[in-house]
Amino acid sequence: MRFCLVLLVLVAISACSRPTEGLTDGTALFEQTCARCHGHDGRGDPTAKAQLGVPDMTDPAWQRAHTDEIIKLTVHEGSKSKKMPPFGEVYSNEQLDAIIRHVRSFAAK
Ligand code: HEC
Repeated sequence: MRFCLVLLVLVAISACSRPTEGLTDGTALFEQTCARCHGHDGRGDPTAKAQLGVPDMTDPAWQRAHTDEIIKLTVHEGSKSKKMPPFGEVYSNEQLDAIIRHVRSFAAK
């Protein structure tokens, strides 16, 4: 009985720390977490834009200035001003790469 309880707690903890575990669809991940601020098309949700000043990810200059490393760092630690919150280790490297591919897809539009 006690073993079952421990197991249950462990499962619950791992489920909480990685809510998107197993999901490697960058579009779905972006829609789930980033789109409420960055908008579905990367241009920025109008409210978040007015209140927080989210950047336009479709801007070629923005794309050039933000290397994959910068995007990863921002997701891990939040933006410098902390207006974008840090996500810590919520995403695996594979998930981050998928999210970045989705962010890059905004450039062509
Ligand atoms: C709560 C709103 C919010 C969410 C959710 C959010 N962001 Fe941001 N993001 C911002 C804001 C605001 C900025 C501009 C930050 C600033 O000016 O300091 C920003 C900036 C960025 C930058 C540029 C950072 C820089 O230094 O120029 C990247 C890259 C980025 N976001 C990626 C993402 C990704 C990927 C996700 C999803 C995992 C995400 N953001 C989720 C609000 C958000």
